[in-house]
Amino acid sequence: MNETRQRVLDALADGPVSGPTLADELDISRSAVWKHVEALRDEGFEIRSDDAGYVLDSVPEFGASAVEYGLNAPFSVEYHDSIPSTNARARDLAADGASDTVVLADEQTGGRGRLDREWHSPSGGIWLSVLFRPDVPMAHAPVFTLAAAVAVTRAAREAGVEAGIKWPNDVLVRHGDEERKLVGILTEMEGESDRVSWVVVGIGVNANVDPADLPDDANPTSLSAERDEPVDRRLFAQRLLEEFDALRQDPANVVEAWREYATTLGKQVRVETPNGTIEGEAVDVEFPGALVIETESGREVVSAGDCEHLRPITE
Ligand code: BTN
Repeated sequence: MNETRQRVLDALADGPVSGPTLADELDISRSAVWKHVEALRDEGFEIRSDDAGYVLDSVPEFGASAVEYGLNAPFSVEYHDSIPSTNARARDLAADGASDTVVLADEQTGGRGRLDREWHSPSGGIWLSVLFRPDVPMAHAPVFTLAAAVAVTRAAREAGVEAGIKWPNDVLVRHGDEERKLVGILTEMEGESDRVSWVVVGIGVNANVDPADLPDDANPTSLSAERDEPVDRRLFAQRLLEEFDALRQDPANVVEAWREYATTLGKQVRVETPNGTIEGEAVDVEFPGALVIETESGREVVSAGDCEHLRPITE
């Protein structure tokens, strides 16, 4: 959002304020104040004028300004009602040199998942990609995928949905013996081996969508289905971004946070890796995100793969 407009909004958030006072405080003309207020109204902020001045009655349900308003993390947000893929857009922004930018959409028409799969992204979800430039070697980048999984799990739990994480980055909700997928994460990056240039962490949250509108093979669920009522997408996106921002600055502690929500540890797993299938008990996760599996022929450390939970060993 335009910086002056942001300051107008910040002033309104502190209580009623008159046009002349705003003009003085921001060192702009009264007509400029009026134009910013009108622009904010166009974006969905309900701003009343009464004797005390301008009063902020409500903020929009979703969108760039809605998510930026009151956000306690240094991201600027670009919003689209509909876009092919927020990850593709974030990659373009990366090529233009942007950083600390979030691309957010209500709907994606060409959402992408892991392993070149499609990701269904109907209207009502929270489809977002965070673009940033961490000062770490490429080999450490997987930790940001784990950080995203932790961030979104915390946001889901705050919203009353008991989510857990299946290695490496599926956020699931348990229903008896079954695990239903709530969130998918797709991380892309570029750089030299000693240093990352940019990372795009794409997070797809089935928020206010009907799981019946999503493909069955992923065994999907959604926040609204789990809660029996819609979630406030603005607050959810803010909490997710705030948690992610804190974790990305503290990579050494991400794995420990991840373990807290992991549903994979202690389970019998089958992992399809680029070098073959590994089966055994998942016993730990190591920085920056590798799974340690106790197999019949000893310990294996797997850094990437598709993981399936087999029968549980401990509950
Ligand atoms: C998975 O296969 O589980 C990962 C799915 C990732 C989907 C998200 S939605 C926002 C971002 N944009 C995309 O095109 N994909 C990711």
